[in-house]
Amino acid sequence: MPDAPKQPSSAPEADNPHRTFDGQEEGHVPTFPVPERNLGKDGYPAPFVQGGLDGWKEEWKKSVGDQGDEWWRKAAEDNLYWHRPFTTVRAGGFENGDTQWFPEGGLNVSYNCLDRHAYANPDKTAIIYEADEPGQAREISYAELLRETCRIANVLKGWGVKKGDTVSIYLPMTWHAAAAFLACARIGAIHSTVFAGFSAESLRDRVQDCECRVLITSDEGKRGGKTIATKAIVDSALKECPLVEKVLVLQRTGNEVPMEKGRDFWWHEEAPKVPSYCAPEIMNSEDPLFILYTSGSTGKPKGVVHASGGYILGALMTVKYVFDVHPEDRFACMADVGWITGHTYIVYGPLALGVTTTFFESTPVYPNAGRYWDFVDEHKITQFYTAPTAIRLLRRLGEEHVKTHNLSTLRVIGSVGEPINPEAWHWYNDNVGRGKATIVDTYWMTETGSIHVTPIPGVTPTKPGSATFPFFGVDVEILDPNTGAVLEGGDVEGVLACKKPWPSLARTVYKDHARYLDTYMKPYPGYFFYGDAAARDNDGYIWIKGRVDDVINVSGHRMSTAEVESALLMFSGVAENAVVGTADDLTGQAVHAFVCMKEESDYSKAPEKEAELKKALGIQVRKVIGPFAAPKKIYIVRDLPKTRSGKIVRRALRKIASGEGDQLGDLSTISDPSIVEHIMEAVKKA
Ligand code: WTA
Repeated sequence: MPDAPKQPSSAPEADNPHRTFDGQEEGHVPTFPVPERNLGKDGYPAPFVQGGLDGWKEEWKKSVGDQGDEWWRKAAEDNLYWHRPFTTVRAGGFENGDTQWFPEGGLNVSYNCLDRHAYANPDKTAIIYEADEPGQAREISYAELLRETCRIANVLKGWGVKKGDTVSIYLPMTWHAAAAFLACARIGAIHSTVFAGFSAESLRDRVQDCECRVLITSDEGKRGGKTIATKAIVDSALKECPLVEKVLVLQRTGNEVPMEKGRDFWWHEEAPKVPSYCAPEIMNSEDPLFILYTSGSTGKPKGVVHASGGYILGALMTVKYVFDVHPEDRFACMADVGWITGHTYIVYGPLALGVTTTFFESTPVYPNAGRYWDFVDEHKITQFYTAPTAIRLLRRLGEEHVKTHNLSTLRVIGSVGEPINPEAWHWYNDNVGRGKATIVDTYWMTETGSIHVTPIPGVTPTKPGSATFPFFGVDVEILDPNTGAVLEGGDVEGVLACKKPWPSLARTVYKDHARYLDTYMKPYPGYFFYGDAAARDNDGYIWIKGRVDDVINVSGHRMSTAEVESALLMFSGVAENAVVGTADDLTGQAVHAFVCMKEESDYSKAPEKEAELKKALGIQVRKVIGPFAAPKKIYIVRDLPKTRSGKIVRRALRKIASGEGDQLGDLSTISDPSIVEHIMEAVKKA
């Protein structure tokens, strides 16, 4: 593909005042014009939305206006295959948590993701599987993916899995995960995927909560040259999951792993025994497609439930418009399939659209920091989607790893999962996009199912650090956090809320609808509450400022302070503890834990063992949650700052952990101010 004439990549069009996500005034940021490559010049495809920002605005207004549902009706009719047509577009609403989309409609998600493309274009690559070791990539066609999916669907059916049953999936980043998801969707089973970085105890809790009888896993995983003992983790988890009768085990490494007779079966032995076609079960649009557990304010993760028709439509439409994906494009999302980004932007969205997607098994730095860019050049990737953490890591490792690459196939480069700081944005723009690809900073969450606030390539001039404007059909407001009043106009800051249901909205929390209503619908009646603070500048651009609850975001991994606290509390000798998130240059936020030991604990009797204790506490969190949740810093303290009524003053702990102990402000609410001194000492010492 020809390269557009070189433009200076940092050519600002205008200056706009803005605030960064942590609320600091930062002066002025440049606005970046739409790159020529996204306007269909020099052999690159023309954008879907015509008429630039004005054209988009007109279309967006239609999509959220009185006739907004018509926008979705047309989208659903034009882009999905319905085995049974719908008449109603939308029913219900936020207040009772009874939103329905296309309720009379009948469809099968796997049919939409596979059959219609496999019949039209059997040899087209559905998946590029970039295996952990460089040079071992493999492409899987739509026809092959359909056959493999059908076989696994038939294996599950043979085991008695029926429509409405749950199936747990605990798989590393191999393409077979797509076949596992779609096999469930094919027979109407609800999959519940657990990120393969979760520990045995976390897996056990999620398997128990969704009450599945079948689990799909692998012998081992490969990542960054390391081997992960996937099946061993499953075996340990299943000791306390008596309902699980059958385990399907994919052979990834071929190393020997124990197989329990009558319970564990090899994927490669079972699949060839059954037919390679399985008729799709016609599902109601509102039937659940999957459960995905995510963290909230309390220690217990929520099983977020997504419905079939609305979810697949949201996934498809955002892939198409947010990433400007055309039929011959090769789309690459670097997330793990175990998180929502992997569900929507590795599996469901790109496959529903019938384009080529990617399973990237490795890390950005294996075997060196040029791995992503080798991959982009080798496979002629057109859209590349990753998290700010990876960008910050690569920025730190130096430009020499990216400079030597061509990267001219890229038209859109995305960011997701956490606010992207302007430094990382500029590095991404200059070194990866080279000023010729649009950066889409996409804001959304597990519960929204698909992207909510984002630039549109070919349309939106971007500002580093701003997710810009809402997607079609998404109408957001910024509310005063205390009164709930709508904050109009520019230069306002408050909490972000959504005014109107969208198709890929999560329908409930598994077995806990009250919690669904309490978390999202009740805080600001009439709105869906995201849990994030946000500002709008004078140009109407939206700036996401981070969570307002006790959720912390480490490298884009969402966890609650309460989860980490309860893991630490289970450690013998811990009296109490408090966990806070602090800003971190690399991971966005980092976990800091303040731990008090019981007086009678062994440690209290031998304080010289502090280093040993901290290590053991770190292992405890890895064991209960997973390695990604391990605290960056642990401080052993004799007490915690509390109010007279005994509430821990986290604000003070957050400041101290952030090195802002001199800015604590009013300490009169703390019952024993001497504790603050003591904690500051402990932090200094660490
Ligand atoms: C945060 C990940 C700023 C936000 C898709 C949200 C972001 C949480 C962005 C959801 C972004 C996600 N800018 N913050 N572009 N994208 N977040 O459920 O705090 O794992 O509430 O979904 O990530 O995390 P989740």
